[in-house]
Amino acid sequence: MPCYDFNSIVERSGSLSVKYAPRAIESICNNAHAQPFWVADMDFAVAMEISQAIAEQAAHGVLGYPLFSSLREEFFDWAMMRHQWGPDINRIAIGPGMLTTLALLLDLYTKRGDAVIVPMPAYRPFVQMVRENKRTLVEWHFTYDSKQHRFTIDSNQLEHLIREHHPGALIFCSPHNPSGRVFSYEELNEVAYLAAKYHIIVISDEIHADLAYPGFKHIPFDTVALDNGCRAVTCMAPSKTFNIPGEHYCNAVFTDSELAKGFITRLHSLFLGTGLFSTVAASAAYRYGYDWLIQLIEYLDAQAHHIEEVLRPSPIRCIVPEASFIGFIDCSAIVESVAIDATRKPDLYDPAGSPHGGLLSRFFGQRAGIAMNDGSWFGSDYGSFVRFNFGTSRKRVDMALSRMLEAVDRLD
Ligand SMILES: Cc1ncc(COP(=O)(O)O)c(C=O)c1O
Repeated sequence: MPCYDFNSIVERSGSLSVKYAPRAIESICNNAHAQPFWVADMDFAVAMEISQAIAEQAAHGVLGYPLFSSLREEFFDWAMMRHQWGPDINRIAIGPGMLTTLALLLDLYTKRGDAVIVPMPAYRPFVQMVRENKRTLVEWHFTYDSKQHRFTIDSNQLEHLIREHHPGALIFCSPHNPSGRVFSYEELNEVAYLAAKYHIIVISDEIHADLAYPGFKHIPFDTVALDNGCRAVTCMAPSKTFNIPGEHYCNAVFTDSELAKGFITRLHSLFLGTGLFSTVAASAAYRYGYDWLIQLIEYLDAQAHHIEEVLRPSPIRCIVPEASFIGFIDCSAIVESVAIDATRKPDLYDPAGSPHGGLLSRFFGQRAGIAMNDGSWFGSDYGSFVRFNFGTSRKRVDMALSRMLEAVDRLD
């Protein structure tokens, strides 16, 4: 098996990357020159088989309408290999990107004005999706243990919200962005039990599923949904797994084949499908990317624990993720000092220059030269966190951590 190198630094400036685009960086932290540790893509080169497959297709020179005949089978094989999960082929549909698929599902299963539950903190597009499609957002807050630095599911609160708001759907996220949780069977089972009891459809975004660390077993929501008799759609994608998020592609697995048919009909009616290159990339990734992925996960797991160790003696603390390459950092111990800094130097913290940022992202952007998503992007209650994307070389992670700690040290 080849040994993949995740320590090399790939120069990404000028490569059409939004993460590295100065104006975009400025919009979250007021400093266009800050080093980017935000947008959820990784700095690693993809597995060679993926770039080769794309290059071969491009080299052909004619980029006509494609016909792929075994995409669902390829996902089935992948799901078996990675998750020991074997959904019937007739329950699988291939959709465009994850968010497009989720928005289509929301549109199919709920109507204007319906309540939709979203776990908080939330990847912001979930909230936008509910609001912009004129559904009513019901926030379901996870419980945060500020001593253990860990988020957990509160199913009593979920039941309370369901009884109060009678939602039509729950947009779930598992593993969870940004808490990093890989949920246990018991936790997932409680959600599925309540969804079945109150006839709620669960739309489960599992885009980070393949990136669960050793020791954490990702359980597709489909499994607990079938055990409990609730309706659910489990959506997985190769985008985060293989670092190909610029190529939109999504596998949606429905708890029954009739639901899958309904979704496919809707795709047809809107003339929506996947593109040539996104499909070539996804297919190559699922067929040849396993070894690359296993080595990547080891690298990310070690990176997450390294970050926790480096930050442990400081006032800011890492919420160690159980999957993927993004993690919340709890900065509650420094928020007051940062607020004082902001009153002394208001120009550094001017929201006009960084409409997508918050107090802490502006602090780290200006005082450390490190761009991270502000916790408030994930919900108004989470302004004492930042989200750090550590899907990059150890050298860059260490550079970011030392600059952040120096900036924290300089606070009064
Ligand atoms: C939980 C989650 N869902 C969806 C997406 C975006 O998926 P796509 O680009 O396929 O729409 C992201 C990207 O960060 C994500 O973290």
